[in-house]
Amino acid sequence: MSKIDIVLGTFFGDEGKGKIIDYLATKSDVTVRCSGGNNAGHTIKANGKKYAFHLAPSGILSEGTLAVIGNGVVIDPRVLIEELEVLKNDGYSIENLKISDKANVIMPYHIEMDKMLEAAREPGKKIGTTARGIGPCYCDKYERSAIRMEDLIGDTFEEKVRTNVANKNKIFGAYGWQPVDADKIIAEYKPLGEYLKDYVCDTINLLHDCLANDKSMLCEGAQATLLDIDFGSYPFVTSSSPTVGGVCTGTGLSAHDIGEVYGVLKAYSSRVGEGPYITEQDNEIGDTIRELGHEYGATTKRPRRCGWLDAVALNYAVKVNGITGLAINHVDTIGKLPKFKICVAYDYNGEITTNYSTNAKFQEQCKPIYEEFEGDFDISGATTFDELPEKAKVYLNRIEELTGVPIKFIGVGASREELIVR
Ligand code: IMP
Repeated sequence: MSKIDIVLGTFFGDEGKGKIIDYLATKSDVTVRCSGGNNAGHTIKANGKKYAFHLAPSGILSEGTLAVIGNGVVIDPRVLIEELEVLKNDGYSIENLKISDKANVIMPYHIEMDKMLEAAREPGKKIGTTARGIGPCYCDKYERSAIRMEDLIGDTFEEKVRTNVANKNKIFGAYGWQPVDADKIIAEYKPLGEYLKDYVCDTINLLHDCLANDKSMLCEGAQATLLDIDFGSYPFVTSSSPTVGGVCTGTGLSAHDIGEVYGVLKAYSSRVGEGPYITEQDNEIGDTIRELGHEYGATTKRPRRCGWLDAVALNYAVKVNGITGLAINHVDTIGKLPKFKICVAYDYNGEITTNYSTNAKFQEQCKPIYEEFEGDFDISGATTFDELPEKAKVYLNRIEELTGVPIKFIGVGASREELIVR
């Protein structure tokens, strides 16, 4: 019986999970997405071409690998089909795609609701969502009015759309927002269901059968720990559980089925959207990091806020997720600075603590305590840990010491291949 290995983000997303996922996906019989939707994005290079995926699991590019979209994912069928069409046009078979019948469908009114609610929030209270309808879709899930993939491809679709549209239009009306048209939605979405129906199945039993047949399995996380609906900096979070628990609830696999949990981080940190960020460098240092690391959103192109690595927050991610191995990207980028820092503790009103909290008052009032490291090193071309310059080793060893977790992957350059595997 095999186990499922997991790759997840330790901070606010955009840690470079795709690079680690790509490496592990080529060795996996099954790759699974378990949460989030097309608010996530990562690029994969195959046969000299770049593919930007927001929904399709990485394994879709390998014919022998099952690519599964689990029940915890919210699917915008228009976006998924667009991705599949690009692949089909390039000669890829997409027969290895399996979509959970229980995954929820993002409908046009979710996107409108997302935009409307964000527009209605006062300055300072805006979440900075990706406007992809993610939050409103999960709202319907928990309110139990969602349209699932099994509805989209079945005969319950029309009635559910009409009921939902009638309810949503009352809310749109109250906000003075343009209503949506049920007939138009049904006419557009029915063919989308037709397109996807052959890929929809009971992925829960499928995944358990894969484990029983000793298939190697990888769950590719989206977003990250500090964006988690429970464990993140609420309300400046996404609406799903991108932490380890979300793997169980988003796939139907049990806690006993989990193998390695790889936590991905950058040698610095970044955040898109609003919300507290203790080690943010809203200054020249942050600007330099942004330019050196090309920190602009893959999905929304927004410039990312940048700052130092926060080992206190990292340890929180280690605790919440049971991380067994770290993967650190952009070590080459940080080495371009003459000196750089890691936050090792906080001063919370005179009390020194290494316990992270997402409590708003705590986030506002604590001050980071830093350790400084020597930069100005070049690690390009290094293929093993031993080949790294001493200054990089000192830094990486310190991260292991601070977290008690081994570093298994080290990103030494922008391309996918520039990765040291330990
Ligand atoms: P939503 O997920 O679109 O509702 O956005 C909620 C918050 O999560 C916003 O601050 C987004 O910028 C952030 N967010 C969502 N997905 C990602 C991601 O993949 N990377 C980084 N930030 C994300």
